[in-house]
Formats: sequence, C-alpha cells, structure tokens
Amino acid sequence: MKVLANDGISQSGIDALEKGGFEVITTTVAQEQLINYINEKDITVLLVRSATTVRKDLIDACPNLKIIGRGGVGMDNIDVAYAREQGRSVINTPAASSHSVAELVFGHLFGLARFLHNSNREMPLEGDSNFKGLKKAYAKGTELKGKTLGVLGFGRIGQATAKVAIGAGMKVVAFDPFIENANLELDFFDGQKLNFDIKTISKEDVLKQADFLTLHVPAQDDYVIGKSELEIMKDGAILVNAARGGVVDEVALVEAISNGKISRAALDVFEKEPKPEMQLLMNSALSLTPHTGAATNEAQDRIGTELAEQIISILK
Ligand SMILES: NC(=O)c1ccc[n+]([C@@H]2O[C@H](COP(=O)([O-])OP(=O)(O)OC[C@H]3O[C@@H](n4cnc5c(N)ncnc54)[C@H](O)[C@@H]3O)[C@@H](O)[C@H]2O)c1
Repeated sequence: MKVLANDGISQSGIDALEKGGFEVITTTVAQEQLINYINEKDITVLLVRSATTVRKDLIDACPNLKIIGRGGVGMDNIDVAYAREQGRSVINTPAASSHSVAELVFGHLFGLARFLHNSNREMPLEGDSNFKGLKKAYAKGTELKGKTLGVLGFGRIGQATAKVAIGAGMKVVAFDPFIENANLELDFFDGQKLNFDIKTISKEDVLKQADFLTLHVPAQDDYVIGKSELEIMKDGAILVNAARGGVVDEVALVEAISNGKISRAALDVFEKEPKPEMQLLMNSALSLTPHTGAATNEAQDRIGTELAEQIISILK
C-alpha cells in the first residue's frame, strides 16, 4: 500500500511505515494535480500538514483513499466530518508538539525578561560603539523564578507549559472553561517523578495575578484577550501568544504596550499570516517568531512515528 506524504514527513516516520510494509512517497504534488496523482498511483493514505487541503471534491474523487492524516493539531484544511461520513479514517497527532510549543514560550519569556529581543537587535549595530549604553539599557531584567505565570487554556500545551514553569520555580495559575482540575506529572532525568494538582480559577483572577500571561486556546470567533482583558492585567505584565492568530487583539495589544500597561510581549502567531502587520514587526517591545512553535526535530519525529503507528493499526 502507498502513502503519499504531500507536505513531508520525518525520516523516523518513513522508517516506521516502511517497516510496516508501506511504500512512502514524499513528492509534493500541486493541489490541482492531487486527485489525478492519488488515483493514478493508487494511494491509500494521504498525509498532510497545513499546506495541502483535503476538501469534499478530493474525497469524492478518490474512492480508494482510506486514510487522511494531519501531522500536527489543527485540521481546518481537511473536511473531517465529511470524510468520516464517507467511511474514511481521519487521524492527527495532537500531543506530539506540546512540549516544543511550551519550550518556545519559555524561549520568549526568558528572552523578554532579560531584553534579549532588544539586545540581539542592537548589539550588531552598537555593540562596539555603545557597549556601556546598551548594558545600562538592559540592566533592569527580571527573574522568572518566584513570579506568577497565568495560563489561559489548560489543555495539552497549557499543561506542558505549566510543567516547564514549575520546573523554573514559577507559580502557575490557570483558567479553562472545561477543565476544573489537572494533575501534572513532571518527569525528571533520573526517573524521579513529581505530581502537581492545579485547580483552575476564573479568567479574571488569572488576569489579575499574572506577571506573565500565556495563551493556549483554540481558534475562536471572539478575542480571548482584547482591550477589556488587557485593562484587568497587572501594570507592566508580559504576554505571549503562541496559540493562534486572532485570539489576541493585536491593535489593543500595541495600544497597551504604547501606554505602558503591557511592558513587552511575544508573538509566534499573527492575525495576518504570512504577512503580519508592519507595526508588529517593527515594534521593539515584541519578541517575534514565524509560527515555529512546533518546529523542532523532536516534535517532527514524534509526529511521523505517531502517524505511522496509527496507520499500521488501522490498515493491518
Ligand atoms: N505555535 C504553534 O506552532 C502551535 C503548535 C501547535 C498548536 N498550537 C495551538 O495551540 C493551541 C492549544 O493547543 P492544545 O493542543 O493545547 O489544545 P487542547 O485542545 O489540548 O487545549 C485547548 C484548551 O483551551 C480551552 N479553551 C477553549 N476556549 C477557551 C477560552 N476562551 N479560554 C480559556 N480556555 C479555553 C479548552 O477547553 C482546552 O482545554 C491551539 O490553538 C493550537 O492551534 C500552536
């Protein structure tokens, strides 16, 4: 049986599938040629990330396609319900990238707390002519230890982020309308484990208490952080959005930064991707990454092997 990994797959995923007796094709077929390709090559499994879309027309036109797999979380590019109605399996790997996103959040948090986002921009320009000036400019850093991390959305990534926070000595407060209590198991290098119970509290209390706030909610119709939420937050708080563009009101955020309510912020996701607003890109209070939360070798390896395991168990 043939698997077409149209948006790529890790070598570990290819190895696991080949071991399971599948032929893996990693050619990227253009969207408009995909139906023909799948039928001509008799593809059984189509794997995508976010680039390839799998809509009703493709599902109808490819009767021998049994599994549609998404490496990663969001399945907005697949007509999931329709595919399932037609008897196809639709799979994804929701947990594979949680820790990678959590570490990116902490990359931003540690960086923002010590002005690395500014220092990395200014040192190449002024590091030799104004070393003392820059040293003074970045002198008032803060430690994360002992501070409070507010987490909005306490699912997989929210909880993974909380674990890193606990490891860094932070207090964690969380809000999630569907989760009252979470048991976090922290695994250490030598096999020791520690369990933490965290009871979620109201959104308002999280906003009031957080020195640092991070969002891990799914895409939704309304902003989760807009003007009124920013007003409730502590003066000088730091905010990170590595969830989805559109859960933070970017205009309200820029306004809150310019009036000092929010001191600094990090964005991995943007309302307008792949062309974020210039006022964000040029804002020196922002630490920015181009939606790379899940982009680690480890997460891509886990995505590949988890997809392979699911495919093998469905078809064998
Ligand atoms: N930056 C990246 O590269 C990257 C990578 C993977 C996932 N993500 C995004 O991270 C987000 C979280 O992913 P996850 O795997 O943890 O999902 P999840 O479903 O495990 O958890 C999301 C949680 O948010 C809660 N929630 C929903 N609406 C809420 C609201 N208004 N306020 C507070 N909580 C709310 C849900 O109850 C759920 O528990 C998603 O938006 C996903 O798209 C980003």
